[in-house]
Amino acid sequence: MNKYQYHLFVCTNQRPATDPRGCCAEKGSEVIRAALKEAIEKRGLKSKVRVNQAGCLDACAMGPSVVVYPQGIWYTVKSASDVEEIVERQCVKGNVVERLLMPTPWARGST
Ligand code: FES
Repeated sequence: MNKYQYHLFVCTNQRPATDPRGCCAEKGSEVIRAALKEAIEKRGLKSKVRVNQAGCLDACAMGPSVVVYPQGIWYTVKSASDVEEIVERQCVKGNVVERLLMPTPWARGST
């Protein structure tokens, strides 16, 4: 049994601007992380959903990267409206948000 129903890890890794790999921080992942935390708190979901920052999740080109465990679902979350959709549809209703899945074969995890 898991303590949390959903554990969201948000990559906030930062690299120098000269690094060709780029990073999630330069794409606004810290703002995304803060917005996710705020949305979870606003809905009273803190006992059920946890948001943590993470280092590089090795999906840099598809970031800002967010992975949801234990399901192992990988999302690209770019905006405030994306955040609202993840929280409402994934964390409240338990549905995968198809339009925000990373374009990889493993994005759906164990769902
Ligand atoms: S820098 Fe975010 S996944 Fe690599």
